Amino acid sequence: MEDLVNVLPVFRGKRVLVTGDTGFKGSWLSLWLAEAGAEVYGYSLPPESADAHFNAVGLGSRIKHQDGNILDLDRLGVFFRQAEPEFVFHLAAQPLVRRSYRDPKETFDTNVGGSVNVLECVRLSPAVKTLVYITSDKCYRNREWVWGYRENDELGGHDPYSASKAAAEMVFSAYGDSFFRARSGFGFASVRAGNVIGGGDWSEDRIVPDCIHALREGQPIVLRNPEATRPWQHVLEPLGGYLTLAAALHRNPQGFSGTWNFGPDSAASRSVHDLAQGIVHAWGSGRIEIQSSGNAPHEAGLLHLNCDKAHYSLGWKPCWGFERTVQETVAWYRAVVSGEQGLSMSVAQIQAYMESSHD
Ligand SMILES: NC(=O)c1ccc[n+]([C@@H]2O[C@H](COP(=O)([O-])OP(=O)(O)OC[C@H]3O[C@@H](n4cnc5c(N)ncnc54)[C@H](O)[C@@H]3O)[C@@H](O)[C@H]2O)c1
Repeated sequence: MEDLVNVLPVFRGKRVLVTGDTGFKGSWLSLWLAEAGAEVYGYSLPPESADAHFNAVGLGSRIKHQDGNILDLDRLGVFFRQAEPEFVFHLAAQPLVRRSYRDPKETFDTNVGGSVNVLECVRLSPAVKTLVYITSDKCYRNREWVWGYRENDELGGHDPYSASKAAAEMVFSAYGDSFFRARSGFGFASVRAGNVIGGGDWSEDRIVPDCIHALREGQPIVLRNPEATRPWQHVLEPLGGYLTLAAALHRNPQGFSGTWNFGPDSAASRSVHDLAQGIVHAWGSGRIEIQSSGNAPHEAGLLHLNCDKAHYSLGWKPCWGFERTVQETVAWYRAVVSGEQGLSMSVAQIQAYMESSHD
């Protein structure tokens, strides 16, 4: 993999705007950029809980964060004008499939309308040179086949979340064709990654936080859909890809603009049950109970990304296999639950990950 130690100096002293910085992925990305010496501007709703990763690492005092809704175009526009970012990473979204069934309108408004607002701000901000626009592996029309999806496969979505991400891709493509391609020295890419895990995620309806809550309280881990197979990856894997891509876009905007998959090797595609077992093993105790999912809403059974483009054109590949991913994830929660500082854990894991990218 292109050595991240060589990639990160690109961001030193640069103004970088991250939407969704209070979220799981956005807070890790913002911390990583701040550690690399970037001046980070974050715009998102306030953190959802006191123990969110954003709070656990004290990000509020390390970056210039503003609470705001991406649906508020005026406020977002003012923030862009103040920040004058050279790099933009757009991660703000309603990212949960089950919540999208409960509130499809919120999901489409945020993921499509909110993304349009971010693209508008980028369009009207001459300072922006590089845009990385985060969608999802779920933007592909899921055919439940065993092959990995390639960047040029058909878009689609059964549930509102997946459809909103496919729609966000269409919007991105239109802005690219209509406005960005003609903009001199401007690099823009949409990126699609799968299910990420790692320390500090406390979102509802996600397997790792559900497991940690249960283990902490001495309760059994209850699995609804144990056989569902997902391409698990540590949160630092796709983020390392986004940073590598942003640096490449900055160096060669025309050569790297487009769409990119950042998924794990197919060996990391394991069932929910395998993941829960790995977590119990790493935690040192705990038990698992299977509950029939009854009339639970439809969730995709298998989804796997083909990442040949990132491997060959960008030199990116995943560094941590499934076991290491689970081990680092549980180590983070274990340490923080026993009173260690989230910041030192996260910074140590970022450093360990960068060392792995050397190997
Ligand atoms: N976590 C995953 O496994 C995964 C997988 C594929 C893609 N993604 C994508 O990565 C991105 C980040 O996901 P995450 O897991 O960190 O989610 P998260 O829920 O932890 O964070 C979402 C962020 O978006 C912000 N946000 C939501 N609605 C907003 C609004 N209306 N205005 C402003 N900010 C708003 C939240 O405040 C938060 O900062 C999302 O675009 C998501 O769809 C995540």
